Amino acid sequence: MNILALYASPRPQGNSAQLLNALLAEAEHLGATSKRYTLNTLRLKGCQACYSCRQPGKEKQCAVKDDMQPILADLFAADAVVLASPVYMWQMTAQAKLFTDRLMPVLKPDYTSWLNGQRLLVLYTQGQPDLTRFASYFEYANSMFSFLGFRTLEPLVFGNLRDRNDIRQQPQHFERVRQAAAELVGKG
Ligand SMILES: Cc1cc2nc3c(=O)[nH]c(=O)nc-3n(C[C@H](O)[C@H](O)[C@H](O)COP(=O)(O)O)c2cc1C
Repeated sequence: MNILALYASPRPQGNSAQLLNALLAEAEHLGATSKRYTLNTLRLKGCQACYSCRQPGKEKQCAVKDDMQPILADLFAADAVVLASPVYMWQMTAQAKLFTDRLMPVLKPDYTSWLNGQRLLVLYTQGQPDLTRFASYFEYANSMFSFLGFRTLEPLVFGNLRDRNDIRQQPQHFERVRQAAAELVGKG
């Protein structure tokens, strides 16, 4: 299994990074390979609405020649995708949303998908201790990702996290991401 991981926090070693690293380490331990992109450090523009990706002969391609090019290539080749994002203002971060807007090339002109059912696991971290507080948003985001052609898994949500190392006070969460890794690679 080939996993594409998108890391969408600006903090290099924050809570989401530590959880994502643990998840990928376990997935690799179970035989998967993974490639990780830190969205905040990439040269990524927002979608320019040129609709080039809807033109015959330009299918699956984006006209904006920036760091989304290798991500798109890896996405089409991946079996599973993990998107790790803190909650910012009740939603995914701007880095994650920018990546998401650039997914227009996964849609065919009739708005069905070029993807072949890649699994998608979204991992959210938040300051709010109540894990149900943003549940309607997580469900809504998963509906959008399903529309794009992903086979969405139940999101993982971790709360009560403010400082970058708060996650270390909650070691049970690392066990949870290891279980999620096993489910993702089909060994759970
Ligand atoms: C700009 C900004 C907006 C935030 N908005 C929310 C929010 O709406 N709800 C929430 O529970 N936490 C919010 N937080 C807290 C982060 O989600 C939380 O600290 C998260 O664990 C950070 O992840 P990281 O350590 O991986 O960067 C916000 C933090 C920042 C910096």
